[in-house]
Amino acid sequence: MCGIVGSINHNNIVPDLLAGLSNIEYRGYDSAGIAVIDNDGLTTIKRPGKLEQLKQELANQALRSHTGIGHTRWATHGCPNEANAHPHSNDDVSVVHNGIIENYLQLRQWLTAEGFRFQSDTDTEVIPHLISLFLEQGQAPQQALNTALQHLEGAFAIGVLFRKEQDHLYAARRGSPLVLGQSDQGLCLGSDTMALAPGIDRILYLDEGEQACMTRDSFQLLDLNGRAIKRDMQAYTSQQDDQSKQNHKFYMHKEIHQQSDTVRNTFKHTQHLLPELPVDFTRLDRINIIACGTSHYAAMVAKYWFEQIARIPVDIDVASEFRYRSPLLSRNGLSIFISQSGETADTLAALRYTKALGQKTLSIVNVAQSTIARESDFSLQTQAGPEIGVASTKAFTAQLAILASLAIHAADRCKAIQIQESNRLLMEIAALPSLIDMTLELEPHFQLIGESIKDSHNAFFIGRGSNFPLALEGALKLKEISYLHAEGFGAGELKHGPIALIESGVPVFVIAPNDGLLEKTLSNMEEVMARGGRCIVLGDHHSCGNLPLEVESITLPACDKVFAPIIYAIALQLIAYHAALAIGTDVDQPRNLAKSVTVE
Ligand code: G6P
Repeated sequence: MCGIVGSINHNNIVPDLLAGLSNIEYRGYDSAGIAVIDNDGLTTIKRPGKLEQLKQELANQALRSHTGIGHTRWATHGCPNEANAHPHSNDDVSVVHNGIIENYLQLRQWLTAEGFRFQSDTDTEVIPHLISLFLEQGQAPQQALNTALQHLEGAFAIGVLFRKEQDHLYAARRGSPLVLGQSDQGLCLGSDTMALAPGIDRILYLDEGEQACMTRDSFQLLDLNGRAIKRDMQAYTSQQDDQSKQNHKFYMHKEIHQQSDTVRNTFKHTQHLLPELPVDFTRLDRINIIACGTSHYAAMVAKYWFEQIARIPVDIDVASEFRYRSPLLSRNGLSIFISQSGETADTLAALRYTKALGQKTLSIVNVAQSTIARESDFSLQTQAGPEIGVASTKAFTAQLAILASLAIHAADRCKAIQIQESNRLLMEIAALPSLIDMTLELEPHFQLIGESIKDSHNAFFIGRGSNFPLALEGALKLKEISYLHAEGFGAGELKHGPIALIESGVPVFVIAPNDGLLEKTLSNMEEVMARGGRCIVLGDHHSCGNLPLEVESITLPACDKVFAPIIYAIALQLIAYHAALAIGTDVDQPRNLAKSVTVE
């Protein structure tokens, strides 16, 4: 989703702005732009489409400056064209903005009546004009910004330049994250740490409602009311090395192949932290797990684990729906929030809602400094490293590694299982990385299957038990990156409607480990075949050993049935990846999608 960069330093900042924008391309966007300030005033250059278009435009211009801002936009108000791209500038002020200004229509009417002319359809454009209005009324830049902020409703993060202040870069945060970075060369601004200029060694996250005014050597923080506050930067080591694709065509492919390490590291890290986790599972009578997208499917898998292993009842919610159903939260409950980015607006809003009701909150995030991590009572971090591909892969299996460990830990504490069983389960998790490697070695088989479905109009995924959410995830992965229509179903549910969609040759992926539900899953497969569907079974040697000859299958390594979703996820990711590759889509940055969804 939208990304912000900003830089003020002793050198030319244009290359830093472009490097920052490149690093946040992964968030998903449809236009990009920068604004810089120099003796001639504000210069704003923006282009629809990929960052490359902007870079080409800039290559034709000898643009140099010590102070600038930049943005990648993911369209909300107004289509992705040049006028709607950020920065939005008038003669005196330039603004980049993440989030949504909810009262922009009223502000637009007011500002139009005051004589301002709007060039775009965006909500953002009210901000520079509003600031200009207060400048015209004689307020100093900082004060004009502060007054403008009081008039804005909604969630936002902004970076601001003033024509008359070549040596200042301003920022403000309400609802959407912003981080400042510092190096010996100067200061910079980003919507996440990946956006920050190379070489920074100190960072500071703005807290809710805070503003910052940066010069080349220092910064000042202000609170909601414009009063100065003091907080120091923290030491920071950049993870730039992790950002190359190595020998992979796409980041998603690299990330799929990192999963034996990321699951291993996450499991070890979690085991180390769990004894200190200040949650008394023996007193819990219910767990709520709330998340969006792939993280929501991790939550659905975890429901099976918590209920079957620890015997604790679990409710699962899609974050965007959670607070609107006025949920009845148990007084002795725990709410768990899962988010790769730790910034998803709906998940964050659900966290705040839950906290306000006095419930204990635990987050599982991949970004340690994210807002969800910082605002929850406790946080466990997946050790997946930066996930660049928009479609989540390694973060998903790392989330599952934490959730599995947590369910076993809860079962131990509640004495829901014998110590021998808990040790056995922990050993099974410890063995997963080598099973993941074995599954990755089957890639040529997944590739053939993926390529074979590239012309299909529909694809279906079915599974039972904890592999039902995996069927949903398999379908999501395929539609996200290949744009093929795909749906996942509980295998037994197919006959209650979706079977009407089965016709000759429609691919149906049957997730079928030998898990005690195999016979029933295979009966559902027969129902599909009887109607001409093309069944592709993903199973182990037991389930694939006795299939009818006409059924295609891929034999995955045998694993404990409890943790099969972690192994089968790899197969589904690779099938989706190769289907997308065969179709020729932009696998890492699929159309319309965003990595970090910071609007509701
Ligand atoms: C977006 C991404 C999905 C992701 C979802 C939740 O829609 O495209 O891949 O699963 O957000 O993101 P989170 O960061 O909260 O896990």
